[in-house]
Amino acid sequence: MSGSRLSRALESGAPILPAEGRILLSGPSPADDLAGLPRDRCHLVQTLRPEHDALAAAGWQVGLAPEGIYAAALVFLPRARAAARARIAAAAACLSDGGVLAVDGPRTLGIDALLREVRARVPVDEPVARAHGKLFWCRPPAGAFADWAETPRRLPGGFVTLPGMFSADGPDPGSVLLAAALPERLPPRLADLGAGWGWLAAAALARTGVEEVHLVEADARALDCARAAIADPRARFHWADARSFRPDRPLDAVLMNPPFHDGRAADPGIGAAMIRAAAGMLAPNGVLWLVANRHLPYEAALAECFREVAPLESAGGYKLVRAARPAAAARPLPAGRRGPRGRR
Ligand SMILES: C[S@@+](CC[C@H](N)C(=O)[O-])C[C@H]1O[C@@H](n2cnc3c(N)ncnc32)[C@H](O)[C@@H]1O
Repeated sequence: MSGSRLSRALESGAPILPAEGRILLSGPSPADDLAGLPRDRCHLVQTLRPEHDALAAAGWQVGLAPEGIYAAALVFLPRARAAARARIAAAAACLSDGGVLAVDGPRTLGIDALLREVRARVPVDEPVARAHGKLFWCRPPAGAFADWAETPRRLPGGFVTLPGMFSADGPDPGSVLLAAALPERLPPRLADLGAGWGWLAAAALARTGVEEVHLVEADARALDCARAAIADPRARFHWADARSFRPDRPLDAVLMNPPFHDGRAADPGIGAAMIRAAAGMLAPNGVLWLVANRHLPYEAALAECFREVAPLESAGGYKLVRAARPAAAARPLPAGRRGPRGRR
């Protein structure tokens, strides 16, 4: 819990909250206790749609990237080390002279190793260690972390990724398995839920019969990478939570390699929620193609939401499933009609 570390640091007079000036909070989640921070001076950067919206709904000013100069910055550790370094570099680059850079994170995300790396470059005060994590701070001179800045990675096929994105080094073997199993001719209207940097959606666009592919992705950075790679006018890009996304008309097919993290936390429940959402987006004869790590428990959600569920393949630690005919309770009703319990 960063909140307890943050409040402990603030109580102990740590210089992480300057008397005036804007404060950047990079990557906070709605679960972080931000009490004690002056709302009117804080600018939060959060590119994940569900977390972005929850923070905005709680009254914080939230954007997709740092803007201008800040008197202090508090970086919340993401899961990937390269992404953490990039976040630190971006925060340090927009600090005013002598501005404080603070970094907070749990041990499970590698705060100790990161503290060692930062200490090798700049002096760091005694950290606050609490709740299985640490909060440390420093005053980085200009350029101290410039070499940690995020560099896009260019992949064959015109794809581009950024550090910390899912399968940033190349297509995920699970997605490759799913793409290989798709029929040569696909139905016209599809979605890729959790589309990442676009590899699977691009594979669908390469099949015949496709008129539109909706790329639904929660992370604005990944969606920007997909946009940069896919110039096809049949691609529609949606920065959205797939669990609540609703297409304008029912879809013929959904492709999915579902995430198993909700923000920073591991949560296989998000995949099950996306299966339910997919069923709700499909036409009566619609089809879901899903690939997932073999151990992830999606069978109950599939059986609950689809009348036909056929395991297609199991290879390399992945399972591939084709599910068809969404159960009536899961399907969207035609426009204007209400369900038995007021369902729309
Ligand atoms: C396992 S990756 C699959 C990416 C891509 N389809 C591929 O095959 O390479 C899952 C993706 O889902 C995204 N994601 C996580 N939660 C999401 C949500 N609630 N709504 C939409 N996308 C989400 C992640 O950012 C990630 O890009």
